Amino acid sequence: MTCSFFFRIVLIFQHRRLLLALSESPPAPQNIHVDNWLLTWTPASEGDTTYTVQYSRFNNRKWTNVSSCVHISSNSCNVTSTKAEAEHGCVRLRVRAERRGLPSPPVEACSRHGDTCTPDLSLMPGPGSLTVYLTMNHSLAQEYGRHAKYRVYYGKEGEPLLKYEDAEASVTISELQEGQRYCVQVQYRYFKSSIGLPTCTQCELIPESKKDSNQTVILVVGPIMVPVLLIPLIAYFLICKSERIKQWLRPPYELPEDFLESFPEHHLPISSSSPTEECWDVISSISPQE
Ligand SMILES: *[C@@H]1O[C@H](CO)[C@@H](O)[C@H](O)[C@H]1NC(C)=O
Ligand SMILES: *[C@@H]1O[C@H](CO)[C@@H](O)[C@H](O)[C@H]1NC(C)=O
Ligand SMILES: *[C@@H]1O[C@H](CO)[C@@H](O)[C@H](O)[C@H]1NC(C)=O
Repeated sequence: MTCSFFFRIVLIFQHRRLLLALSESPPAPQNIHVDNWLLTWTPASEGDTTYTVQYSRFNNRKWTNVSSCVHISSNSCNVTSTKAEAEHGCVRLRVRAERRGLPSPPVEACSRHGDTCTPDLSLMPGPGSLTVYLTMNHSLAQEYGRHAKYRVYYGKEGEPLLKYEDAEASVTISELQEGQRYCVQVQYRYFKSSIGLPTCTQCELIPESKKDSNQTVILVVGPIMVPVLLIPLIAYFLICKSERIKQWLRPPYELPEDFLESFPEHHLPISSSSPTEECWDVISSISPQE
């Protein structure tokens, strides 16, 4: 009884696993970018995957299929035809994979080069901050004035770029974690719509601030350097200048005139310095008084 029950459970699990494998969506396409109106992406490892490319016009939330790239098995699409579809040729593009009738989530394409519809940016990291240099004099600004802005998406490398700042020109993102890599993606905005392709993700390492590294040097090197410098100095004084120290410490005292006469001849106080202790000021000749 228990044995057949156990086997039934195993069979149900195997069946579910098979169904899940069959009903699994294909992985979303990756590294989708445009170069000179040719859209390319990383192909899936499984052969029976097809791709469909869609575009969206500026100020239009609807996505339309690029007619020459519906259910294609290659990993590129000539999107020159979309240029005529939109003002300034500013379209957004996305690709979705499909396998056995099941689609992947769509992924938007990015552009590696700035042009009329994609911002041109450069990044300058600073201690705890990242400055995104953007020009105020871009072609969309000339067309739409100050309503054309930049949306600067940012986040830690490997994480989705969820935070953003809207700017008319260059912007500095501050309070970033030092020693961490941050990534940035910029897209044009017009009122409440995104226009054109965003830039492909660019990442930079946020350096540690100089002040902190100096403090580290003092904190680490200080305790090492103090004994290194002090010990020889103290040793030098103790070994070589002990006579001087003794002289400095000696209270000023004048010998009485009859001091030496009060001793018998063989009890004269003579320096006990040994010749091996070279640093000492050796008294070379003492002539006992007759
Ligand atoms: C676009 O292509 C998809 C196939 O990926 C299809 O299901 C859909 O009906 C097409 N849309 C239009 C408007 O032709
Ligand atoms: C894309 O198609 C256009 C015509 O629609 C053609 O002039 C152009 O050379 C094609 N580009 C590539 C890379 O095949
Ligand atoms: C802005 O760009 C236009 C051409 O796109 C150029 O003629 C003009 O000199 C530029 N102005 C500035 C201030 O850079």
